[in-house]
Amino acid sequence: MLRTSMRTMATAARKSLTIGLIPADGIGKEVIPAARTAIEALGSDIPTPKFVDLIAGFETFTRTGVALPEETVEVLKNDCDCALFGSVSSPSKKVVGYSSPIVALRKILDLYANIRPVVSVSPNPNEPSKVDMIVVRENTECLYVKQEQLTVGEHGKEARATRLITERASTRIGKMAFELALARPRKHLTVIHKSNVLSVTDGLFRESVRAVPLQDTRFEAVTVAEQLVDSAVYRLFREPQIYDVMVAPNLYGDILSDAAAALVGSLGVVPSVNAGDEFVMGEPVHGSAPDIFGQGIANPVASIRSAALMLRHLGYIEAANRIDNAVDSVLREGQLLTPDLGGTAGTREVTEAIAKRI
Ligand code: NAI
Ligand code: MG
Repeated sequence: MLRTSMRTMATAARKSLTIGLIPADGIGKEVIPAARTAIEALGSDIPTPKFVDLIAGFETFTRTGVALPEETVEVLKNDCDCALFGSVSSPSKKVVGYSSPIVALRKILDLYANIRPVVSVSPNPNEPSKVDMIVVRENTECLYVKQEQLTVGEHGKEARATRLITERASTRIGKMAFELALARPRKHLTVIHKSNVLSVTDGLFRESVRAVPLQDTRFEAVTVAEQLVDSAVYRLFREPQIYDVMVAPNLYGDILSDAAAALVGSLGVVPSVNAGDEFVMGEPVHGSAPDIFGQGIANPVASIRSAALMLRHLGYIEAANRIDNAVDSVLREGQLLTPDLGGTAGTREVTEAIAKRI
């Protein structure tokens, strides 16, 4: 549905938009309501939003014995057009019976793309952002299939992991990346791999992504470059402005996207969406921040921008732009900033200032 939605949603005559809200743990409970406030401020730019409160997370697990209740999954699948997820507190030691609900949701809803725009706000609105890129990370395979074995050989312990790269998953993440690049002014896509060493697995990823324009001529308008992952990290720090859209297998994408987030000041401002063909779920990049939870000072920007990103994916481009422009304006002015950005404002004040400008 999403693939179609990306092209046709803007004109589709939806009467309402049902959005699942899963704050989960810690500051997720403070920043997801902020994202809701921003969506409500949009008024008639989107169909009347209907919010459904859903539970999941470590707190839910300690209370009920289940981290991701069946009802949450059923409501998301059957009643919701999209969702916003806050953050989970994963215990640092293994807890029997617990596994992360966000990882499970990505699998159950087949959210195969993790899309993370990393954008800096320039002091002058007429100046382009120094950093303005989207990291598109494959979300379902690579080393994250978690097939590891420990054996004992002649010289002691030996650990092995299976790295799965399929043509299907590489092609579909490639399509998503081309689609995103096509919608941007620069229309530039960098394919990240290490096929000089891993010629079979990364070779297949590279070939599959590069073959995407052969199936859809619209993508011929996109300029394609490629880069080995190690030199990509180097160049990311030296000259981030060269990147527009980057597409990478799961592990490289995970590392690159956290590295890219370091270029824009705070984890509290970096949004993401988990997207598949049927569903899209916005999610701030940060975790549950137990060190500041309960103080009312969590930066709501990452979640508010995640809401914008979710709407953009559904085709509500104008609405998404309105949210992003309001955030840019508040950040640029610099009067109301949370402590992570050097200010003294609280979550609520920042949220209200953004909502007012939407
Ligand atoms: P974290 O992202 O929660 O916090 C790292 C640092 O950034 C902390 O000092 C925190 O105060 C600050 N920070 C994060 N978000 C902020 C915001 N919106 N406003 C202001 N400051 C913010 O990462 P950490 O501390 O490594 O993990 C804490 C918990 O979160 C752990 O249980 C971890 O497993 C979980 N986690 C969950 C994620 C998810 O739900 N996708 C992702 C990362 C961590
Ligand atoms: Mg990561």
